Amino acid sequence: MEKPVNEACLRNQQAIYEALRLHFAGSRSVLEIGSGTGQHAVYMAEHMPWLEWQPSELAPALPGIELWRREAGLDNLRSPLELDVRCHPWPLDSLFDAAFSANTVHYVGWPLVEAMVEGLAQALEQGACFCLYGPFNREGRFTSEGNRALDSWLRERDPDSGIKDLAQMVERLEEAGFDYRGEQAMPANNLLLRFTRR
Ligand SMILES: C[S@@+](CC[C@H](N)C(=O)[O-])C[C@H]1O[C@@H](n2cnc3c(N)ncnc32)[C@H](O)[C@@H]1O
Repeated sequence: MEKPVNEACLRNQQAIYEALRLHFAGSRSVLEIGSGTGQHAVYMAEHMPWLEWQPSELAPALPGIELWRREAGLDNLRSPLELDVRCHPWPLDSLFDAAFSANTVHYVGWPLVEAMVEGLAQALEQGACFCLYGPFNREGRFTSEGNRALDSWLRERDPDSGIKDLAQMVERLEEAGFDYRGEQAMPANNLLLRFTRR
């Protein structure tokens, strides 16, 4: 089996790292949800050696992440955890003081987003930082033609999926026990949203 490669990760990993290194400067252990190929996990663990990085994914994605992890040989990158956000309680041994997820919430339907938010509220220590990266709509409107095209593609694949509204996302996280700390514009009309667990 060859390592899976997502070209988008190669384009966005440096910008994501530059944001996360500030937000995770005082963190120790990061839970990543929906790690995909594992490229972000390797890149972030390599560039932020003070963090213990825990990738997680659905079972079919785990072998690919493990290939990236073995090749990287990083002491601070844990073996990928099988984690379906819908299966509560999540199979975690301890709490994390940070969490990250990229490009997950537009990929799935709203009930799955809610399951992820509820799981994160349980998985994180008080004061933990959660960073959520991806495209978001503003007041129900796409912020670019590229995001509109992405949304059409997503809905053809799964009619329940699609780009979520920023305000709705923030409201749901606040309901679950997070404080919204703000957004950062990222390349290609993406945002990095930052929250703190109350
Ligand atoms: C668009 S990909 C993003 C992957 C990676 N984070 C990135 O930025 O390249 C969305 C990921 O969400 C994962 N996913 C879908 N449903 C999930 C679930 N129920 N629990 C956990 N992850 C899920 C998929 O397996 C997929 O890898």
